[in-house]
Amino acid sequence: MTSVTRRPTTRSVSRSRTVFECTSCGTPHPAWVGRCGTCGEWNVLEEVPVVGPEASIRTAFDEVVHLRSLTDIESTNWVAEPTGLTEADRALGGGLVPGSVTLISGEPGIGKSTLTLQLAAERVRSGGRVLLVSAEESAAQVRLRAERLKAVYKDLWLVDSGSVDAVIDRVEDLKPDLVVVDSIQTVQVNDERGLPGSIGQVRAAAQRLVTEAKARSLATVLVGHLTKEGSLAGPKALEHLVDTVVELTGDRHQALRVLRVVKHRFGPTDEIGLFEMAEDGLRSVDDPSRLFLDDRAADVAGSVVLPTLEGHRPLLVEIQALVVRATMPHPRRSPQGLDGRRLALLLAVLDRRVGISLGALDVYATVVGGASATEPAADLPLALAVVSGVTGRPVGGGVSNPRVDDTVALGEVGLGGELRQVVGTERRLREAVRLGYSRAVVPAGTVTAVEGVELIRVGNLAEAAAAVGLLSAN
Ligand code: TYD
Ligand code: MG
Repeated sequence: MTSVTRRPTTRSVSRSRTVFECTSCGTPHPAWVGRCGTCGEWNVLEEVPVVGPEASIRTAFDEVVHLRSLTDIESTNWVAEPTGLTEADRALGGGLVPGSVTLISGEPGIGKSTLTLQLAAERVRSGGRVLLVSAEESAAQVRLRAERLKAVYKDLWLVDSGSVDAVIDRVEDLKPDLVVVDSIQTVQVNDERGLPGSIGQVRAAAQRLVTEAKARSLATVLVGHLTKEGSLAGPKALEHLVDTVVELTGDRHQALRVLRVVKHRFGPTDEIGLFEMAEDGLRSVDDPSRLFLDDRAADVAGSVVLPTLEGHRPLLVEIQALVVRATMPHPRRSPQGLDGRRLALLLAVLDRRVGISLGALDVYATVVGGASATEPAADLPLALAVVSGVTGRPVGGGVSNPRVDDTVALGEVGLGGELRQVVGTERRLREAVRLGYSRAVVPAGTVTAVEGVELIRVGNLAEAAAAVGLLSAN
């Protein structure tokens, strides 16, 4: 091992300077202004000293830094411990790693407190001790939720203080296996400037909890609220501090909740967990394709099934389109769970390349069941659903005699109306076969063959519409 002593190369600056930092988003300003230009908040600037070259030189002076080859560093085996919630384990790549910090972010009311209380309860059921820091809700409210979730246990301990020091003292007393902080925005650090919930406070509190988690090998879950703007002094500002970031999303009026891993130091990202919000909490959805297709009516115009990919996971979803005469001078385009710009583009391609004009028609398009399909593969089924909606004919007939209830479609549509292949065709087709679909409309170049599914290869949108009996082939 080689030792190197680092010497300062810049001269120290002795003049102390200050800047005006936004307590809401952290942006520094050279002078005081009434409104932060970055986040738009009023009266949020605070004068703070600049930590300049002087400070950094002093700490770096004579500091001994070791050079180490990567081969000399011992490999660590991170072992994830199952949470007891199958879909959470699936998303997290096995469970929670001791000593790791996981941030669960989501909009208010989406189910973060429910999910974290269920994680806590599962941990207690498997013989662990959990500390729940409930800085946002009263102990009585937590007890009520726990009763609803059948999660009232002795070893589920509560602190309803927002002071990070108090929390760490209680961790010391209790020595829990899991700490849940709900929410990080309501926890305060006594010596830090700014109001609770401001960027400085949230970061400092999270940093303290991260240090504690590492030192004690303690699995820690932080809840972070996302505001409408998504910026806030919260999840975004914390992503670099924590090991894992998961988002809980969904439509509040629908039962489906998607847990998506967006950053993961110990496993794959791009995995999702699917839950259904029920009377007694979040329930894992083991067979989502079936859930989305169960109530599907056969022989309805404007409906096409897409085998989509959510992360690595194939899912069958139904795309529907309803096309009606426009009542306003500007026709409506209303996409739900779909990409609005893709819808507009597809309508233009249908007009120009297929000769179907939608200028005087309102188009409503949706993915059934609160699911979403914003990937390129959704182009073809969406366009076919629109054509089916315009013609009033369900997918059926055509060259291979496909029926609405046995056919899926996937493919990206180009501006020329041509079809392009998409990733993961094999996985998608296998899922389609598993659920009893036997035909797939796919781009002409598709070579993947999957037993049990007949491929209807088409070069462009007009051919695709003809192949499923929506237009006559010319
Ligand atoms: P909550 O976990 O409080 O959301 P967050 O912490 O993200 O703000 O839950 C929000 C909603 O979930 C609430 O409107 C009620 C509903 N809910 C159920 O439907 N079933 C349940 O068992 C529970 C606990 C909540
Ligand atoms: Mg909550």
